[in-house]
Amino acid sequence: MTLRKHAEFPNFYEVTHPLIQHKLSMLRDVNTVKKEFKELVLEITLLLVYEATKDLPMTTRQIQTPLEIFDAPVLAGQKQVILPILRAGIGMVDGFLAHMPSARVAHIGLYRDEETLEPQHYYFKIPPNSKDRQFYVCDPMLATGGSAIAAVNELKKAGAHKITFVCIIAAPEGVAEFSAQHPEVPIFCANLDNKLNENGYILPGLGDAGDRLFGTK
Ligand code: PRP
Ligand code: URA
Repeated sequence: MTLRKHAEFPNFYEVTHPLIQHKLSMLRDVNTVKKEFKELVLEITLLLVYEATKDLPMTTRQIQTPLEIFDAPVLAGQKQVILPILRAGIGMVDGFLAHMPSARVAHIGLYRDEETLEPQHYYFKIPPNSKDRQFYVCDPMLATGGSAIAAVNELKKAGAHKITFVCIIAAPEGVAEFSAQHPEVPIFCANLDNKLNENGYILPGLGDAGDRLFGTK
């Protein structure tokens, strides 16, 4: 089992697999270039998704094997929805789609105001009939928690109630705030880092995830 629990955050699951830890160290390195950064985000997401989807409901479908008819286990219910928080969440989408190629992809546009650190909302598009779908909100970074909380607020307003948040690095301050607002939403994360600095950046962190993914700085 590679899931680590923290007593103070009952909804938080740290995925401590050695491959994730190794890749995360490469991701943090300031010398990792854009191409490698993008590949590492994808590879880490592939490993996180394996754990984050462990409770998906199952049913059976009758299939014919070359030898006999068999009630085969398959995923139950409507297609899942991946909801990346723009921009950096986009880097994680292919990691989900590799496992669930017919999942729907929704989008929410949020950016942090550099002064107030408050999330600014600019886009929201999800598929119809979302009430009973499983949503996976993804963003590499959970810092103050403002963006993740705002994304889940919008989903709940739209009627969704099966929601999981998947990130790569989280700050304890953000996990505490998210857990206070959305205690029933599980968070799957590669590492709980130390703290936020005075500018709201995660320490040790990896810097600005969106800028490193898209080469905008
Ligand atoms: C980053 C990151 C998260 C947010 C986390 O995005 O990708 O969305 O900050 O910070 P928070 O937990 O304090 O809200 P940013 O606002 O830089 O937008 P961008 O992805 O468009 O660059
Ligand atoms: N957003 C980022 O991209 N990095 C941080 O450390 C905090 C917020």
